[in-house]
Amino acid sequence: MSSNITYHSGSITRSERSGFLKQTGVTIWLTGLSGSGKSTIACALEQHLVQLRKFAYRLDGDNIRFGLNKDLGFDEKSRNENIRRIGEVAKLFADSGCVTITAFISPYKNDRAEARQLHEKSSLPFIEVFVDAPLQVVEARDPKGLYKKARAGEIKDFTGVSAPYEAPGAPEIHLKTDELSVEQTVQTIVDYLLTHNFVSS
Ligand SMILES: Nc1ncnc2c1ncn2[C@@H]1O[C@H](COP(=O)(O)OP(=O)(O)OP(=O)(O)O)[C@@H](O)[C@H]1O
Ligand SMILES: [Mg+2]
Repeated sequence: MSSNITYHSGSITRSERSGFLKQTGVTIWLTGLSGSGKSTIACALEQHLVQLRKFAYRLDGDNIRFGLNKDLGFDEKSRNENIRRIGEVAKLFADSGCVTITAFISPYKNDRAEARQLHEKSSLPFIEVFVDAPLQVVEARDPKGLYKKARAGEIKDFTGVSAPYEAPGAPEIHLKTDELSVEQTVQTIVDYLLTHNFVSS
């Protein structure tokens, strides 16, 4: 880190910002295997919240890899760095008052814990959502044909096949997407946001 930098605070407090915007910034961190439904749920949730006139925005794995993280691969170190940057970006969005929805496999417990700590150090709420479906189910879905390629040995370091996925031990929300519809998963998250006063109805 450079030594010649000084943090410059803003002229508006977080609670003033929340008051004016009528919502509290929060990060909703979706984690799960490829094909578990993170992007599908993130899109539906974002649409639902914006239609309710909430400031919500989605950060999605592949999309971020087209830009900010286009220099990163899929080996463990690159995945660590991928999640570190997303954690920082999500924190900035949450600080701005946004309901920030991230959709990254984020397979390592440690990386997710770091993203959580980053938020908690700044007193920003972090909601870990385990988007869960058994490997057989996501492999049968295979929406991008990636499992087929991974089984054929055409993709290395593929989560669930040739790279690990460390499931959350105590996520705030656990969604079994082989049992629930997309609408039910969205409603579960929205109910959580309402119950905890992150958004008002
Ligand atoms: N309850 C559900 N919730 C979410 N997706 C579901 C559900 N039931 C079936 N699906 C289907 O599962 C697939 C999930 O694909 P999606 O691209 O959202 O996964 P992903 O977790 O974002 O994967 P990746 O990590 O590769 O980006 C879609 O084809 C979706 O229609
Ligand atoms: Mg996705």
